[in-house]
Amino acid sequence: MNQKKHVILGITGGIAAYKAAQLTSNLKKKGYDVHVIMTANATQFITPLTLETLSGNRVSVDTFDRNFEYNVQHVSLAKLADVFVIAPASANIIAKAAWGLADDMLSTTLLASRCEKIICPAMNTGMLDNPATQANLQTLRQRGMRIVEAQEGLLACGDVGRGRMAEPEEIEDEIERVLTPKILTGKKVLVSAGATQEALDPVRYLTNHSSGKMGYAIARAARNAGAQVVLVHGPTALKPIRDVQDIQIVSAAEMAQVILKEAPDCDLVIKAAAVADYTPARFSEQKIKKSGTDLSLPLQRTPDILKLLAENRTARQVLVGFAMETEDLLTQAQRKLHEKHVDLIVANDLRQPGAGFQGDTNCVTYVSKQGMETMPMMSKTAVAEDLVRRCAVLLKEREAATAC
Ligand code: PMT
Repeated sequence: MNQKKHVILGITGGIAAYKAAQLTSNLKKKGYDVHVIMTANATQFITPLTLETLSGNRVSVDTFDRNFEYNVQHVSLAKLADVFVIAPASANIIAKAAWGLADDMLSTTLLASRCEKIICPAMNTGMLDNPATQANLQTLRQRGMRIVEAQEGLLACGDVGRGRMAEPEEIEDEIERVLTPKILTGKKVLVSAGATQEALDPVRYLTNHSSGKMGYAIARAARNAGAQVVLVHGPTALKPIRDVQDIQIVSAAEMAQVILKEAPDCDLVIKAAAVADYTPARFSEQKIKKSGTDLSLPLQRTPDILKLLAENRTARQVLVGFAMETEDLLTQAQRKLHEKHVDLIVANDLRQPGAGFQGDTNCVTYVSKQGMETMPMMSKTAVAEDLVRRCAVLLKEREAATAC
């Protein structure tokens, strides 16, 4: 995120108000300017001082507070906001928002603001299921507000059911999505992630250390940029990404089948998966016994999916591969660029600290026909955002070239 974005965080009265402290802290760490507005009821659950300390900004509660730097406070805050989040959102604020009521600092600022709004309901299941609340939420949806749905769980009243506020990371994900420029609107993007597993027998398989983090970050960045995204991945511990079509496969052969089926109507394909190059030549139906003396394992090549994609690509399609090596990274990346006929190779060296498998960072070199560009170590999220921006440029260039 280059330019500081302003988030207005509205907090209403409910036990989930404690999660707003974590949300504020996380947003601040990510570089957002956070301004908190609390209802009087919210101050019964968490103090303005806590939110002031975490946000670094004065917290507003009272509409008629004279000791404030803004002239007409609710209008100034409303104008400042890039995104307006209410977390937790009580049944009361949801009703006020639906009916346009403005009788305190939060509801007046909300009514005055023109930016995108994210509502995170949190309440007792009965209140949430009440047709009045549901109708109010539907009104907000129809007006373009984004609802981050409440989850099932143990509620403060002791009931178990729907009504727990979404976790801060889910709300942050929605905020980032709202604030990302929509450079891939109208585009369909296919991303592969994670490791494949090649079964030897019912209990054993060959695989590698890919966690899926790099590919998932790319899928999320493409979704945030407005693309329709299909994510094909091997087994991973990562949570599905909201509004991304999720297809789990196990083996390289399965990945090949799904990718080759999905690719023809995609504008962009990014292959971050660590696909096995070899698979056992035979699958043993029974567990292989340790009594045998022959310890060699016959293997056969898996389909080279990237190469097959390039052979069947449409004129407008942009293809991006990754290259992961332990030696001669750039020579190997250039060889893959030419042999696999792709537009761009993102090369990462497993031996470089902060790069490659499992961690949250990567160090990549972009290799294309135009040359090479080595980037500093960045978070996988930042690498993914940068890659998506580059792909948007490649798509524009390809569109222009094919239009002639
Ligand atoms: O998942 P993480 O833990 O975050 O780790 C990320 C990563 C290191 C796995 C990722 O950044 C990465 O480098 N992925 C590609 C790993 C790899 O398989 O590299 P390769 O050089 O062997 O393959 C080159 C390209 O061909 C890749 O785009 C690969 O998806 C593709 N390939 C490989 C074999 C095969 N049979 N079919 C393919 O399409």
